Amino acid sequence: QSSTPVTYTDAGTGIIFNTWPVAAGSQTAGGFTFGVALPSNALTVDANEFIGILQCSSKDATSTGWCGVSLGGPMTNSLLVTAWPAGSDVYTSFRYATGYSMPDLYTGNATLTQISSTVNSAGFSVIFRCQNCLSWNQGGQAGAASTSAGYMVLGWVQAFPSPGNPTCPNQITLNQHDNGMGIFGAQFDSAAANPSYTAWAAKATKTVT
Ligand code: HEM
Repeated sequence: QSSTPVTYTDAGTGIIFNTWPVAAGSQTAGGFTFGVALPSNALTVDANEFIGILQCSSKDATSTGWCGVSLGGPMTNSLLVTAWPAGSDVYTSFRYATGYSMPDLYTGNATLTQISSTVNSAGFSVIFRCQNCLSWNQGGQAGAASTSAGYMVLGWVQAFPSPGNPTCPNQITLNQHDNGMGIFGAQFDSAAANPSYTAWAAKATKTVT
C-alpha cells in the first residue's frame, strides 16, 4: 500500500480528500479506501478533527461486513473507528483495544457526525466529521496523531461477516477481521488541508445511532 496520497473529490459534496486506497486483490477482496480532509491550518498546527471517508467492500453483493481504521496505526492503544451497514444506513462505533480481542467502547469524548453515506451491493461508504478524534484518552491512557508532522500512521481492517446487534452500536459483537488489514504511513500533500474545511464540516448533520 502506498504512502503517497491520491486526491479524491467526492461528487456529492465537493469535499477534497487525501486518500490511500488499497486496490481489490490479494490484500483485500473488493478494495478498501480511507481518506481525510483536514482543517485549513492543520499542516502547521495540529488539528483535533478531520472529515473522513471510508469506502468498504461487502462479500458477494450482500451489503454486509464491517471495516475500520486505527487513528494511531496499531489496533491496540489507538482510537478505532468501526463502520458497518444495516438497512440503508451506515452505523459507526468508537472503540479502544488494549489487546487483540474485541475492542472496548471508547470512553473519551470523540464525536462522529455523518455528511453522507451509501449502501449498495458492492459495499458501503460514509463521509463523516470526526471531532476530538486526533487525540484520545481511555481511562488515563492517552495518545495522539500530529497533523503538522505531515503524515499519520494509520491502520485499516475489513471483515466479511456483519457485526452482531448491528443497530445498537454500543452493543455490537465482532469476529476477528478476515478481509485484510494493514498499517501504513499516510503522507499528506497540499490537498489534504483546505480553506473550505469549515464549510464542509458544517454539512455534518446526521447522527446514526
Ligand atoms: C490486527 C484481532 C477488531 C484493527 C489484529 C490482530 C489480531 C486482531 C489477532 C493481529 C493479526 C496479525 O498480526 O496477524 C481482532 C479481534 C477483533 C478485532 C479478535 C474483534 C473481535 C478490530 C477492530 C479494529 C481492528 C474493531 C479497528 C476498527 C486492527 C488493525 C490491525 C489488527 C489496524 C493491524 C495492526 C496491528 O497488528 O496492530 N486484530 N481485532 N481490529 N486489528 Fe484487530
